[in-house]
Amino acid sequence: MKPVKVGICGLGTVGSGSFNILRNNAEEITRRVGRSIVIEQVGARRDNDVCDTTGIKVTRDIFDVVNNPEIDIVLELIGGTSVAKELVLTAIANGKHVVTANKALIAEHGNEIFAKAQENGVIVAFEAAVAGGIPIIKTLREGLSANRIEWLAGIINGTGNFILTEMSEKNRNFGEVLAEAQALGYAEADPTFDIEGIDAAHKLTILASIAFGIPLQFEKTYTEGISRITSEDIEFAHQLGYAIKHLGIARRTKAGIELRVHPTLISRKQLLANVNGVMNAIMVQGDVVGPTLTYGAGAGALPTGSSVVADVIDVARALTADPTNRVPHLAFQADSLSNMQI
Ligand code: HSE
Repeated sequence: MKPVKVGICGLGTVGSGSFNILRNNAEEITRRVGRSIVIEQVGARRDNDVCDTTGIKVTRDIFDVVNNPEIDIVLELIGGTSVAKELVLTAIANGKHVVTANKALIAEHGNEIFAKAQENGVIVAFEAAVAGGIPIIKTLREGLSANRIEWLAGIINGTGNFILTEMSEKNRNFGEVLAEAQALGYAEADPTFDIEGIDAAHKLTILASIAFGIPLQFEKTYTEGISRITSEDIEFAHQLGYAIKHLGIARRTKAGIELRVHPTLISRKQLLANVNGVMNAIMVQGDVVGPTLTYGAGAGALPTGSSVVADVIDVARALTADPTNRVPHLAFQADSLSNMQI
């Protein structure tokens, strides 16, 4: 079967992580999908060594990628909302499927983007936009789809949780830990988004839209960050038996769906109080399943790339004509069994 051809726009932290996963796990991915997924072209503003040895075409103009007739799936990994929006809408108009990690784009322009995608019969997938490597979009949309969701609450910004953890456990200074989060590739290009709660509000907007079946309403989310939390606050909370965690909370109320992100006191006996460092965790309360908890790395090149590539695989499966391959009950293709050492 013909390979599925991918074009990557942006080779920053998430772009490089996704590039490396697509290359390094190519054999595993081919076995899962039943056809290979190849990187046809990369659009990046700067040279990046990941491409050097691969012979993959690199263009300085990311619009070359969305206009390349060979490409089936465009990976929008440039971030920001203005060029990224134009890029995604152009890709959609050109009949290409899109995978994006861009929560700001989805939270603020998703209603328009999904309407265009529907008109053009293409998929826009965004697992990597929320909670890095945790498959929370797929969990809500697939695993919990039989439930009426009552509420969800979680730690959904890795940078903020890393800062609070280091301040709490090692008594480190806020600014120094933020600089380390930036160096580790956890923080947004503008780290104000992380420390003022905007990034978490983007993610909560997306989660709530899926969990409650409502339009994306970023502007209605109450948003407060961690920038005013001091070491003394953390110490006092500790003495009283609490941890300070930055939470995103969405719940049904009589007046409608309430969306808020803010620092919260959590008893140290609770699971969420013990989610530390860059890890994220999200509790979802469904009416029939009861409480569920997902946990994993909330930022970083490879965890976020894991979600990007999972979406690429989903789209590749949807592109195959065989309906049994669209919903992946088997973890492998039956015809690949003969090649496997068991
Ligand atoms: N800046 C984000 C965070 C990246 O720290 O959670 C992952 O979305």
